Amino acid sequence: MTKKYMIVTYGCQMNEHDSEKMSWLLENMGYEPTENKEDADIIIYNTCIVRENAELKVYGQLGALKELKVKKPDLIIAVCGCMMQTEIARNTVLDKYKHVDLIFGTSNIHKLPQLIDRHLQTGETIVDVDEDSREIVENISANRKYSFKAFVNIMYGCNNFCTYCIVPYTRGRERSREPKNIIREIEMLAKDGCKEVTLLGQNVNSYGKTLDYDFSFADLLREVNKIEGIERIRFMTSHPKDLSDDLIQAMAELDKVCEHIHLPVQAGSNEILKAMNRKYTREYYLELVEKIRKAIPDISITTDIIVGFPGETDEDFEETLDLVKKVRYDSAFTFLYSKREGTIAAKKENQVPEEIKHERFQKLLDTLYPIFYEQNAKYENRVVEVLVEEVSKNNKEVLSGRTRTGKLVHFKGDKSLIGKFVNVKITNPKTFTLEGFIIQ
Ligand code: SAH
Ligand code: SF4
Ligand code: F3S
Repeated sequence: MTKKYMIVTYGCQMNEHDSEKMSWLLENMGYEPTENKEDADIIIYNTCIVRENAELKVYGQLGALKELKVKKPDLIIAVCGCMMQTEIARNTVLDKYKHVDLIFGTSNIHKLPQLIDRHLQTGETIVDVDEDSREIVENISANRKYSFKAFVNIMYGCNNFCTYCIVPYTRGRERSREPKNIIREIEMLAKDGCKEVTLLGQNVNSYGKTLDYDFSFADLLREVNKIEGIERIRFMTSHPKDLSDDLIQAMAELDKVCEHIHLPVQAGSNEILKAMNRKYTREYYLELVEKIRKAIPDISITTDIIVGFPGETDEDFEETLDLVKKVRYDSAFTFLYSKREGTIAAKKENQVPEEIKHERFQKLLDTLYPIFYEQNAKYENRVVEVLVEEVSKNNKEVLSGRTRTGKLVHFKGDKSLIGKFVNVKITNPKTFTLEGFIIQ
């Protein structure tokens, strides 16, 4: 009987893409996917540690597997991802969840087949983590969720050490992939029918800094733009401090680069930005937004915001509200500050009480949602190009897809259109989505 695998993924696109790579490795070993824990021969948790709730979910899941492991002793339980890059979380798993068989880190996923073999041969719990790997492993492919769009890693790690963030400790130092390897991967994807790529890095704007020669992110975009078959180029994430004029110009000029930028601001007060080690001011950020909008008038701008960073006063928070009103974001990920052991901010005495954090969080949403709606309302009666992604979960007659600006659009249509571009006239803009109908 064929063996079955299940991968549960938490966290960001980096993790999602790593899971696609593990899925490819497992299928090369003869495993088949399953959605059902009871059917699985190996269950892998690809974890995230960026906020506490992500971490707690994993412990909950692992605890619940104890019983299944008793019923099915041959089941392999593996934990990987960012949590396993920290000693504390690793030791917690080793001490409290003894039914876990494999533990490996974010730079060891290519070793998965060997680790499984080692476990099968010895019956022991295998731990394989590199605390700060500088190696870049090429030649592993990925089982993509969609045939027409793909993630492509262009760099790994982060050197920014924002004081709240654990990512530099889990993903190690920043390192860029060689442009030729990235281009080759995207050319292969294009040959395979892929039309949209999302270039991934914790801070794509500093792409190229670890290469031996001068080659920037804007240069990379220019090269990717030449690849036949690729019609849309997206990227994540842009740190505001490194967004160059050259990049803005490249975005404006290159026809395949989509009119969307995710530009995390985190906070609107200069005091807090400084304490976060973000290395820009609100004035700089607002000017940057203006510059981008001038070069690319229809661009959609999205962001990440943290509420309740240590020492955040009511006045600081008001500055965040004021900033979001000035920028008029298309969408935003909003987070309650979460204390992460090992980061600089975790040591600060002046932590904000939970109920104040929640109050501010709600106020932030109350400010943001009407802005999202107004931004979307501009689309009414406009015709937009949509790459059709899937049949809507709630209504089988409805398809969904995204505009170049990253907006999710719902419209009626046949599922044979999945993976194709259609023109949709927007009739009903909403806060988080747009509705419309296909026109020829
Ligand atoms: N490299 C990306 C984002 C990585 S983490 C960037 O710099 O934009 C994604 C988001 O999680 C961050 O932008 C931040 O808003 C949020 N985040 C990170 N650490 C956090 C913490 N300790 N508490 C709350 N939110 C956090
Ligand atoms: Fe974290 Fe800052 Fe690096 Fe983003 S840039 S991953 S928020 S340290
Ligand atoms: Fe991503 Fe979470 Fe790691 S946000 S980089 S999976 S800590």
